[in-house]
Amino acid sequence: MILKSMNPSLENLQLYPFQKLTRLLEDLTPNDASLTPIGLHIGEPRHSTPEFIRQALINNLGGLAHYPTVLGTSQLRISIAHWLTQRYHLPAINPDTEVIPVNGSREALFSFAQAVIDAEHTTTQPVVVCQNPFYQIYEGAALLAGAEPHFLNQLPENGFSTDTDQLPDAVWKRTQLVYICSPNNPTGKVLTLDEWQHLFALSDRYGFVIAADECYSEIYFDENHPPLGALEAAEKLGRDGFPRLVVFSSLSKRSNVPGMRSGFVAGDAAILKKFLLYRTYHGSAMNPAVQVASAAAWGDEQHVVENRRLYREKFAGAMRILGDTLPVSMPDAGFYLWLKTPVAGIEFCRRLYQEGSVTVLPGGYLAREAHNVNPGEYFVRIALVASVAECMEAMERIRDITRRF
Ligand SMILES: Cc1ncc(COP(=O)(O)O)c(C=O)c1O
Repeated sequence: MILKSMNPSLENLQLYPFQKLTRLLEDLTPNDASLTPIGLHIGEPRHSTPEFIRQALINNLGGLAHYPTVLGTSQLRISIAHWLTQRYHLPAINPDTEVIPVNGSREALFSFAQAVIDAEHTTTQPVVVCQNPFYQIYEGAALLAGAEPHFLNQLPENGFSTDTDQLPDAVWKRTQLVYICSPNNPTGKVLTLDEWQHLFALSDRYGFVIAADECYSEIYFDENHPPLGALEAAEKLGRDGFPRLVVFSSLSKRSNVPGMRSGFVAGDAAILKKFLLYRTYHGSAMNPAVQVASAAAWGDEQHVVENRRLYREKFAGAMRILGDTLPVSMPDAGFYLWLKTPVAGIEFCRRLYQEGSVTVLPGGYLAREAHNVNPGEYFVRIALVASVAECMEAMERIRDITRRF
């Protein structure tokens, strides 16, 4: 059979960073076969899934006999709305109009662009803006929606801030959607209230929608200072509701259930109404058993406190072990070390693999060249997702290899 045509924009999609990594390392064999391989390249949480979530899933398998609705059960949306109001000190969130459950934030981040971008009724190509480095889904979502990605570099000399002045007025005029990841993957940076104020002002001026990816919001280090959220920022700044603002949240990292595929979107009711329509055709309702387990997970904080304790321990160990050898610093939040490397990130990564059987991700794979620089080129991303013991072992190997440079 002859394949006549497919969407030509598919040709513009880049290989996923992990595929690039496989190619980068395929000609290497670790020097010491007795060293246990330690993979810290994928941001997959590996702490154990809480028993009560597993049990809720098992107890509700009867739900498989029914088609779920795209809007999900009110029980789930009420638990999410309750979580949001508590976590972000919001006066109220309407569970019927301001929340939609999604099958992990990734599919929602992607499909959101397809619903938001209007590439047909404009004389110039629409623009999607995101930070750089960034989560690659944003770029693919933009390209497949017919938009052109533009980037806001996050640079160490600026404390990885999101400086919107990097793009000219002409680009902002074409911008229809801005992805903001806070806490950021990979830099760990949390947007400040000032930065949000600035972005909201730009959104008011140019009319673009803000997609705030907050899937790392619950991985932080000081129990008394959780990261600022976008809805919280809007409320603090006295905005009237959440105009043109939608947040994306997830249980994957918070509750160690990346395989459950459970998250939600919340915010501007008018946008969510249209997004719900889109999702009806897209066919993205959440499995009924997952809905019940998700409601239980959003209703419990104790397991999340324990989860954070483990990350805190790993970061403290990483700082202690690497501190004298590499320029490590604590992220604001999240579980990544965004490490400045003494040689190009690609070379550093190859050496860690060859000499220490440790796999990390070259920062350049998470970024694009923009404004004459690839802001990830001299970085690697290290996901502190393995057990405490494995992470500490990996840090020691990284330190020892770096000392031999
Ligand atoms: C920045 C960012 N956003 C979204 C996701 C997607 O997470 P999930 O689909 O599991 O909610 C990830 C996963 O690693 C991520 O790093």
